[in-house]
Amino acid sequence: MTRSYDPAYMNTVACISRISYIDGDKGILEYRGYPIEQLAEHSTFLETTFLLVNGELPTPKQLSSFNKKIMKHSAYHDGLGPFITAFRHDAHPMAMMSTLMAAMSSFYPEANPAYVGANIYKTRQERNKHIYRVIGCAPAIAAACYRHRIGKPIIPPKEDMGYIENFLYMMDANPADSNYRPHPKIVKCIEVLFILHAEHELNCSTAAIRHMTSSQSDVYTSLAGAVTALYGPRHGGANEAVLRMLDQIGDVKNIPQFIQDVKDRKKVLMGFGHRVYKNFDPRAGLVRKLADEVFTIVGREPMIDIAMELERIALSDDYFISRKLYPNVDFYSGVIYKALGIPTEMFTIMFTLPRLAGWLAHWDEFVEDPENKIVRPRQIYKGYTRRDFTQMRDRTQKVDQELSYVVPNSDVRREASIKLQR
Ligand code: CMC
Repeated sequence: MTRSYDPAYMNTVACISRISYIDGDKGILEYRGYPIEQLAEHSTFLETTFLLVNGELPTPKQLSSFNKKIMKHSAYHDGLGPFITAFRHDAHPMAMMSTLMAAMSSFYPEANPAYVGANIYKTRQERNKHIYRVIGCAPAIAAACYRHRIGKPIIPPKEDMGYIENFLYMMDANPADSNYRPHPKIVKCIEVLFILHAEHELNCSTAAIRHMTSSQSDVYTSLAGAVTALYGPRHGGANEAVLRMLDQIGDVKNIPQFIQDVKDRKKVLMGFGHRVYKNFDPRAGLVRKLADEVFTIVGREPMIDIAMELERIALSDDYFISRKLYPNVDFYSGVIYKALGIPTEMFTIMFTLPRLAGWLAHWDEFVEDPENKIVRPRQIYKGYTRRDFTQMRDRTQKVDQELSYVVPNSDVRREASIKLQR
C-alpha cells in the first residue's frame, strides 16, 4: 500500500464537494457555480445561505419562507444568558463564541448523537432545524457578547427586521430607542462582506467541522471547533492581526523598515498570501472597492493610506512577487470594520457569522455523504523502538529542559509558606 507524507495537507484531497469552486491561479471563486462577483452584486446574505445549503437559488416564495424561518430563530436559548454575562469584560469574543456554540449543545439533548445516535441527522428536516437555529441566533449571540464587553444592556432581536439590519440593531440600539433603524447603506456593505465571507471550500475551519462531524459529534460542538480554527491569525483571525499590524506600523514612513523585517523573517505581512490563491484573491478587490463606499458614509479611515502604500510596495518587491503573495480577503476588511467603529477584537466575529453558512453547508453535505467515514490520518513514527521501563534507582537525567518556573509575584507568599512545610 502506498501512503503519502503530506504535512498540512498541501496536496491531499479529502472529499468530493459540490458547494464552492476555487481556481487559485485564475482568481476564481464560485458558490454552487455562481461567480462571487455576481452574488456580491445581486444577492443577499440569506439568499446566498439558501444557495449554499440547498444547492440552488430560491424562488421568491422559498426565499420569503427561508427568511421567516431564520428570523423566527433570531433569539438564542435563554439558558445562554448566564454564560454570556459570566465572561470577563475583556474576554476575546471568539473565545466567547466558541464556548457559546459548544454550550448550545447542552440545550438540545434530543438532537445529540451522544444520547440518541448519529441517525438523528439523517433527515433533511432535522438538519434544517439546526441550520435555521444556528444561522438565526448567531447574530444575537455575537451582539450580546459585544454589548456585555462594553457594559451595555443586551438588546433582544426584532424578528421583522432584515437579517443584517437586526444584527446591527442589536449591536447599536439603546433600550429607549424603540424606532432605531441601522443606516441602510451600512447594512448593504455588511451584507456584501457577509456574502464574500460565507464559504471558501476546504479551508482550515471547514476542514475542522468535517473532521469533527466525522466522529459523530453533535453539530453545535463541531461548530465550536470550527470557530476555534477560524480564530487563529493565520486564518480568519488575520483581519484582526492586520489592524494590529497597521497600528504598529503607525505611519507610511515606517513601511520600508517593516517590509525589511518581513523579508528578514522577523515579521509576517498579515493579510497577504493564501494557500490556494496564487494570482489574486477575488474577494480582496471587492472588499477594497467597498472600503471607499464605507468612507462616504462614516468618513475616511486614515489607516487605509498605510494599507494602500503597504500593498503598493509589497506588490513591487521581488520577495512577494516570487512567492506569489497577494492581498487576501482580510487585508482591507479590517480597515472597513475599523471605519465602521467595530472594535478590533470583534473583526473575526464578523467573519464567523457569515462563515456559519459555509460550515453548515459542509456539515449537511458530509452527513449525507455515502463515503462519510471517521477522519483518521496516519503518521510516520520516528520515536524510540521498544524499551523496558527503567527503575527509579537506575535512571540518569535525560531531560535537559528547564523544569523550574517563575513564581508570579502574587504567589510569592504562598510559595514561600509551601516551601517551608516541605
Ligand atoms: N508574509 C511574509 N511571508 C509570507 C507570507 C506573509 N503573509 N505568507 C507566506 N509567506 C512566505 C513564507 O514564509 C514562504 O516563504 P519561503 O518559501 O521562503 O519559506 C512562502 O511565502 C510560502 O508560504 P507558505 O507558508 O508555504 O504558504 P501557506 O500556504 O502554508 O500559508 C498563509 C498560507 C495564508 C497561512 C500564509 O500566507 C500567511 O500566514 N499569511 C498571513 C496570514 C493571513 O493573512 N491569513 C489569511 C488567509 S485568507 C483568509 C482565510 O480564508 O483564512
